[in-house]
Amino acid sequence: MPVTVIILAAGQGKRMRSDLPKVLHPLAGRPLLHHVLTSATALKPREIRVVHGHGGGQVQAAFLGQPIGWYHQAVQKGTGHAVQQALPKIPPGDVVLILYGDVPLVQPATLKKLVARAAKGQVAVLTTGMANPTGYGRILRGERGAVVAIVEEKDATPQQRQISEINTGLIACPAGKLARWIGRLKPNNAQKEYYLTDVIGLAVKDKVPVAAVAAESEDEVLGINDKAQLAAAERILRRRLAGQLMAAGVTLTDPERIDIRGELVCGRDVVIEPDVIFEGVVHIGDGARIGAFTLIRNTLIGAGTVVHPHCLLEDGLIGPRCEIGPYARMRPGVELAEGAKLGNFVEVKRSVIGRGSKVNHLSYIGDATIGEQVNVGAGTITCNYDGTNKHRTVIGDGAFIGSGVELVAPVEIGAGATIGAGATITRSTPAGQLTIERGKQLSIPGWKRPVKRP
Ligand code: UD1
Ligand code: CA
Repeated sequence: MPVTVIILAAGQGKRMRSDLPKVLHPLAGRPLLHHVLTSATALKPREIRVVHGHGGGQVQAAFLGQPIGWYHQAVQKGTGHAVQQALPKIPPGDVVLILYGDVPLVQPATLKKLVARAAKGQVAVLTTGMANPTGYGRILRGERGAVVAIVEEKDATPQQRQISEINTGLIACPAGKLARWIGRLKPNNAQKEYYLTDVIGLAVKDKVPVAAVAAESEDEVLGINDKAQLAAAERILRRRLAGQLMAAGVTLTDPERIDIRGELVCGRDVVIEPDVIFEGVVHIGDGARIGAFTLIRNTLIGAGTVVHPHCLLEDGLIGPRCEIGPYARMRPGVELAEGAKLGNFVEVKRSVIGRGSKVNHLSYIGDATIGEQVNVGAGTITCNYDGTNKHRTVIGDGAFIGSGVELVAPVEIGAGATIGAGATITRSTPAGQLTIERGKQLSIPGWKRPVKRP
């Protein structure tokens, strides 16, 4: 049976105390709403509709180009009213699945259970038991245990408030029936709102069975209302992702200390030490090791490569068996060929480092093309910027650049050339030759240090 998903995301999120609309707050590097959309998409629905309100333009802009129908709820008059905005033209034979933009951890398997009930003509409510149910709608059951209504905290009697079974808010329902009941909602309650939850009472009146589907765990239905809940969700998701990596054979020295803000794909026998942050899309080849305290963003890492601690690697392509760091910085646009090495305190930007070449200590390499088996000595700098334009440095295969060399671009170092330490190279140098550029060394015999005046 075709499913139309409605995601409620018009709420303001006051308790986040932020200018950012609540559903755009990042969880594992992606907006809350992104996570809900991902779970919804797994059901292969006919359509996904999002009800937006506060900061609506911003929310739409964040999901530009995605197949989402946007419905504006100008004034927040309750969850029932929100659903009503998105109901027009849903085929009555569809199942409508209602999700919340701020309940990001719900799993597709759970949603499928809700949909399966609704496909049989029932109303399915996702519920869970909560040690502290304060603030939630409580599930009221009749004498034979059937769900008869949901009562909001603010409308509940003291006895009803003792009930620990709560409404997570996620509901699936046959579209035709839902449209009928939504039309009958009245804001006769403490908050003067149109409650979606009143649909349950109406279903019972119409003798439509109501099924309570239990969530896998309390975690899955955690709603994000403030920064503490956001941090709790982050922790839950981190555990989930770390668990998936370990199940796939990755060694995580401490699964509590890894941050995956995007997509991380690992080969066999990958080792990740503590406190590594992954952002965007990162792929790590077989047998690679990532040292502690490193941030890696949108980078592909070849098999057998070792990243030592304290590196920052962005938008790069790292070949197999490379060695990087400690304390290396790869800015965007760097390609390291097989076996290349970047040592400590080396910054590289928009450059290609050829096979087996080494930049081992305290260097800046920008806008350079370095051939194979090149050795770049300590403290070497490509002077790529003349204050107005950027220029390229090209270093041929097998060249040896002595320590403390400045390569003033545009400049080309021939293959097999040797550059003596301390040179400032402003013109291209021939292949195979030694080029030296330095003042003559002078020693002054009989010279005396000044003495301190009495
Ligand atoms: C709702 C449920 C409650 C449940 C709880 C779970 C109702 C009446 N109550 O309560 O039973 O235990 O969720 O978290 O449904 N929203 C709109 N427009 C509105 C109002 C809300 O889009 O006019 C959206 C919010 O952005 C949010 C979701 O609906 O994503 C829930 O709204 P919220 O105000 O948090 O609902 P509660 O009153 O907490
Ligand atoms: Ca809420």
